[in-house]
Amino acid sequence: MIDFSTQYLGLKLKGPIVVSSTPLSESLDNVRRMEDAGASAIVLTSLFEEQLAMESKALDEDLSRGTESFAESLGYLPEMDDYRMTQEVYLDHLRRSKEAVAIPILASLNGATTGGWLRYAKDIEQAGADAIELNTYALATDRAQTSADLEGQLLALVSAVATAVHVPVAVKLSPSFTSIPNLVGRLEEAGARSVVLFNRFYQPDFDIETQEVRPTLHFSTPSELLPRLHWAAILYGQVKIDLAISGGVHSAEDVLKAIMAGADVAMMASALHIHGIEHIGRVLADLQYWLEKREYGSLQETRGCLSRRSVPDTWPFDRGNYIKTLSSYSLRQTVGAF
Ligand SMILES: Cc1cc2nc3c(=O)[nH]c(=O)nc-3n(C[C@H](O)[C@H](O)[C@H](O)COP(=O)(O)O)c2cc1C
Repeated sequence: MIDFSTQYLGLKLKGPIVVSSTPLSESLDNVRRMEDAGASAIVLTSLFEEQLAMESKALDEDLSRGTESFAESLGYLPEMDDYRMTQEVYLDHLRRSKEAVAIPILASLNGATTGGWLRYAKDIEQAGADAIELNTYALATDRAQTSADLEGQLLALVSAVATAVHVPVAVKLSPSFTSIPNLVGRLEEAGARSVVLFNRFYQPDFDIETQEVRPTLHFSTPSELLPRLHWAAILYGQVKIDLAISGGVHSAEDVLKAIMAGADVAMMASALHIHGIEHIGRVLADLQYWLEKREYGSLQETRGCLSRRSVPDTWPFDRGNYIKTLSSYSLRQTVGAF
């Protein structure tokens, strides 16, 4: 029997597959089925500050000056009118989920104001979450905003939350930062215990007939995995912070790639929406078969073996990759043309 165990956020996990934040975990029955299928931890759907009753609006306004950019993080919001989640409902579901299963339950928070991030993070901790994932989604829409501004706000936020709570804090990071290794190093110094690579960038689509701009949410395909693998492979060994990959993990092969890049865990959402929660069990069985066939004793033996620091040539991760990829394409085209 292969040892699948891993450590993530200081938690000992029985395996590498974590269910990432999705509405699937809003049902207690699904939470139990996720554990039964072999998930090693579950990140609950996000608590969005904008969706909560505006009870403490005045307090927020006092505490939040200068942090408005995080209010951009409305990527996953359904219509406000349709939404019934209140803070009490969320915390109650968190408590019940903790009681229902033995695996760690992580809460996910998407605040809009500094006061909100801190207040809800403390409430979530009190309700028993094993860790808190900060669903950050900072996007510059104003030419006056610099990358340094956005990074500074993110670091200040992470530092404030990590100081305010005792449970480990994970940061679900947007891919649109310039120097990801530098930022992740500073997030580690600010108190984050892991980064989740990456938050999906939900660009709106345009309806040319009605001339409307519409939000879009498609399930992922495995092609989304590649930029995550790339950055995990570059980060592995450069930072002590744990690495999670979320985006494009659909099969055992994808899980192996994530671990070989250097991730501690691979997260799944779309694959479970498409194939059902029991898909986790099939992926774990495939993983076991693959590792047994090659006589591995544990999944950890593969960890980081394809990271940038482990491979003999780093060019596939660097600028050389760009040049070689482009030139190999034109060569193939030329050969095909004759
Ligand atoms: C229907 C749906 C709802 C989601 N809601 C959230 C959310 O509330 N918070 C969050 O951080 N991510 C949310 N996500 C993003 C997922 O957690 C995940 O990061 C993303 O879908 C990429 O992983 P995947 O390729 O396994 O789907 C959602 C994804 C889907 C498909």
